[in-house]
Amino acid sequence: MSSREPSFHEVVKNRHSARAFLPSPIPNDVLYDILHEAQCAPSNCNTQPWSLHIVAGEKLNELSHALTTDLKVGSYCLDFTFDKEAYPNPFRQRASEQGRSYYQALGVARGDNLSRSEVVERNVKFFGAPHVALLFIPAVGDNVRVASDAGMYAQTFLLSLEARGYAGVPQAVLSYFAQTVRRILNIPENFKLLYGISFGIPDKNHPSLSYREGRVFVEDSVIWHR
Ligand SMILES: Cc1cc2nc3c(=O)[nH]c(=O)nc-3n(C[C@H](O)[C@H](O)[C@H](O)COP(=O)(O)O)c2cc1C
Repeated sequence: MSSREPSFHEVVKNRHSARAFLPSPIPNDVLYDILHEAQCAPSNCNTQPWSLHIVAGEKLNELSHALTTDLKVGSYCLDFTFDKEAYPNPFRQRASEQGRSYYQALGVARGDNLSRSEVVERNVKFFGAPHVALLFIPAVGDNVRVASDAGMYAQTFLLSLEARGYAGVPQAVLSYFAQTVRRILNIPENFKLLYGISFGIPDKNHPSLSYREGRVFVEDSVIWHR
């Protein structure tokens, strides 16, 4: 999409979670190139334990309707637990900060429940994206190793999108509806939903793209022993 190939450095620095997309889909041949690159991700013993279900068109509408209904009636079914409150600090604080900056960018006031629920609902509408990828992993032991392999795959996929001027957003929220997703996409019970990734052409004029999440200093994450 861009006239010049971005450098690796630019791709890594510029990748961010887009939460607003234009309706035009990514051409199939380009999507295949992206998927070939994602397939280069490393994995334990080269097991490549990821199974990606890409949904578009009518099926995407069907999925969105079903998940919107589940969300409205509070019908959740997660394959893996997710509890922000269980994170020790400083990790929990970072999650609060992320929520604050995101809602601020969207102009949602604290305690504004209607708008907040609308913001959550945008997740199950895939932020207007023409595609969503549902990332499944086979159930293996405590699943930690398999999930970490799938995370490498997901990041390679996201970087490959970025390198071509596209964008995506990983969405744990979609994993709250694992059973519905399995039913609609006819996925066997022994494949577990890690998260979804809505992706496509980012709508750069949307307020949610007006800010970038910061990062802590390297020294806060890396401990040297020498
Ligand atoms: C595994 C995972 C799950 C996520 N789930 C959601 C989600 O459900 N909804 C959402 O809007 N963003 C979600 N995000 C995006 C994060 O909020 C985002 O990656 C983080 O704030 C850093 O911002 P950046 O991706 O723009 O650099 C998720 C990211 C990851 C890696």
